[in-house]
Amino acid sequence: MVDGGRLWKRLSELAEIGKREEGGVARLSFTPQERAAKDLAASYMREAGLAVREDAVGNLFGRREGRDPGSPAVLVGSHIDSVLNGGDFDGPLGVLGGIEVLQTMDEEGVRTERPVEVVAFTDEEGARFSLGMIGSRALAGTLSREDLRFEDRDGVSIERAMRDAGLDPGKVGGAARPAGSLAAYIELHIEQGRVLENENLPVGVVTGIAGPVWLRLSFTGEAGHAGTTPMGARRDALAAAAEVAGVIEEEASGTGSTVGTVGQIEARPGGINIIPGRVELSLDLRDIDEAVRDRIEGRIRARAGEVCERRGVELEFEEIQRLPPAPCSEEIRTTIAAACEEEGIRPYSLPSGAGHDGMHVAGLCPVGMIFVRSKGGVSHNPKEWSSPEDCEAGCKVLYWTVLDLAGRS
Ligand code: GLV
Ligand code: MN
Ligand code: MN
Repeated sequence: MVDGGRLWKRLSELAEIGKREEGGVARLSFTPQERAAKDLAASYMREAGLAVREDAVGNLFGRREGRDPGSPAVLVGSHIDSVLNGGDFDGPLGVLGGIEVLQTMDEEGVRTERPVEVVAFTDEEGARFSLGMIGSRALAGTLSREDLRFEDRDGVSIERAMRDAGLDPGKVGGAARPAGSLAAYIELHIEQGRVLENENLPVGVVTGIAGPVWLRLSFTGEAGHAGTTPMGARRDALAAAAEVAGVIEEEASGTGSTVGTVGQIEARPGGINIIPGRVELSLDLRDIDEAVRDRIEGRIRARAGEVCERRGVELEFEEIQRLPPAPCSEEIRTTIAAACEEEGIRPYSLPSGAGHDGMHVAGLCPVGMIFVRSKGGVSHNPKEWSSPEDCEAGCKVLYWTVLDLAGRS
């Protein structure tokens, strides 16, 4: 059966890569840290007897043949890049859990009809380029050349970072999997919320993934002398942006399901004695209900416009991305629920507030997700924690799910 000790050991080993002195990990895409993490994951794939390859965008795959090699494969996996101060579980659990499942099948001599592949997707988090899910977009054939223009804080574009990592940006189209080539995609992931903890359950069945809208708001006022410009004569871009951040919080708080976050702010020129003339804010707005999200977005846009009008500040919105919520396949949800019962776990369904690669893979095949309980719901934080027992339970549920979907022969 699934070896929880081995899974835990690998999670701990992977957590050493990109470890920061302040705690947590930073493994940004196309960096040596991400490379080292992929190399380690590839070594585990080989130990599991898998055939290893990387595609044109750096997605790492390990494949186990089925009795019918020409049939569509079941894909399992997640990502091993992290946010800027990430924890040890967001992403790695799904990759290492997938490897563990395939290694277990190998050790038990289990044959499946369909091939099963495990994937470590490139740049799910978007921590470096504020785009994210680069690998799964490429797999789904929706990563455009235009997307590769996004830049990191040092002005390095995705295109340039790919070249520096030895990849050819002109070939990303080659990472696209043809329609019909995948039977299903299953991701094991930590919940990153408190629902399972409140329900006293180790594992849950995901109903769907909330859809994010990412916007950049640019405020243009007028820079000026902090000592001589009277308060009534200012066009302070930061004061306007701060008021808008308050509006965002208020509007997102009103529905009970929407979440809105300003995670990035840049004020220029950035002097202690200069009124900020230009400010950029990021906005991440999500809901499992697209209509609710879009209504709140409309209200934020209108109220932000009023704030800026009153303050004599110009406001522009740039859309970085807009994804619809992604419902999980009913059929796979039923399969996962049966797998939970196999493990003596009451099947419990819940939505995902966080984004996942499945949102893009859903364009290719039915998608399912298994959540593992998170301590205190903490994530995107070094304190992120799921117990060894819960990780093992999630991996066992993944095992039965994959076995069912791949067809034991
Ligand atoms: C990634 O974890 C995201 O939800 O943005
Ligand atoms: Mn993740
Ligand atoms: Mn994440």
